[in-house]
Amino acid sequence: MTSLRSAAPAASAEARQPLVVVEDLVKHFPLRGGGFGRKQYVHSVDGVSLTIAPGEVLGLVGESGCGKSTLARAMLGLTPVDSGRVLFDGTDVAATKGAARKSLRRSMQLVFQDPYAALDPRMRLGISLDAPLSQHSLGTREERHRRIVEALDLVGLDESFLSRRPQQCSGGQLQRIVVARALLLNPRLLICDEPTSALDASVRAQILNLLIELKSELDLTLLMISHDLRVVRHICDRVAVMYLGEIVEVASREDLFERPAHPYTQALLAASLPEEPGADTAFPTPRGEPPSPVDPPAGCRFHPRCPKARERCGVEPPALSASRQGHLVSCHYPDA
Ligand SMILES: Nc1ncnc2c1ncn2[C@@H]1O[C@H](COP(=O)(O)OP(=O)(O)OP(=O)(O)O)[C@@H](O)[C@H]1O
Ligand SMILES: [Mg+2]
Repeated sequence: MTSLRSAAPAASAEARQPLVVVEDLVKHFPLRGGGFGRKQYVHSVDGVSLTIAPGEVLGLVGESGCGKSTLARAMLGLTPVDSGRVLFDGTDVAATKGAARKSLRRSMQLVFQDPYAALDPRMRLGISLDAPLSQHSLGTREERHRRIVEALDLVGLDESFLSRRPQQCSGGQLQRIVVARALLLNPRLLICDEPTSALDASVRAQILNLLIELKSELDLTLLMISHDLRVVRHICDRVAVMYLGEIVEVASREDLFERPAHPYTQALLAASLPEEPGADTAFPTPRGEPPSPVDPPAGCRFHPRCPKARERCGVEPPALSASRQGHLVSCHYPDA
């Protein structure tokens, strides 16, 4: 097995092609215990399209339950979708089988929110770290050991962790182990689903900085899922904002934070960055709770909570379209 550090592919002419293309993805879960009458569905992901460029850090933000994790799992092929497709480096994720699927799964790794849940508490970390390599029948025992030590080194830990069990580590150390485990298979895309929300505030920045360092060192592409806009502001190149199963705004980090166009993004910003010096306090905070994803509102899904809503908003769903260069927004009155 080659070293993880030397395995990073050089930037090529194809680097302009998106690494990931999500096309009109739909995932509805049947509602259990729905009773008589019409069968009901949770509209978890409802027509999502987006792209991720190689080497990019894309943020995905939105309130709890808006569909972020479902979208991530669908992108990895872990959740079968109702319609739409995901292309990874031009390959349809759902259509691959056998060895091609295994290889695709190695290229896309997921880092979960809770490192305590991600690692078996009864197992020494050395065994947990060896599992992905043995499952993929990679290398000899000796080669696997070398790769594990290299991955630990990349996340700032030493060999002594191999003989420890999860309860002998701090939350920050465990999240580093989880990141190391994801790196072992030499992925090209790392999907980080709320990677720091289970950690103490003091170690959050360390883990985020580690991810950014690894991204550069290993030429990774990152999808960073968070409900915390401060996380996204810290490390993302571009940000997609999700609301009730739909993407409502996509823009570069600067554009999104300086010129948010969707009233929902404006409200999220106001709610999450109240103490920012010079913050525009004219932004309203989100009113009320998000409506049920089982029966989403007609027209624009945000209209019942939107301070700018007009009659048209309750009738006609807005399309995600360019308001400025590279800035997509799904709102009938983005400049109102
Ligand atoms: N396996 C499932 N079966 C039924 N409903 C599901 C399933 N997984 C997710 N859902 C529903 O889909 C919606 C979106 O859930 P999802 O976990 O994707 O949201 P999220 O944005 O990741 O939320 P959070 O920020 O809390 O992690 C929710 O209403 C959730 O209850
Ligand atoms: Mg989630």
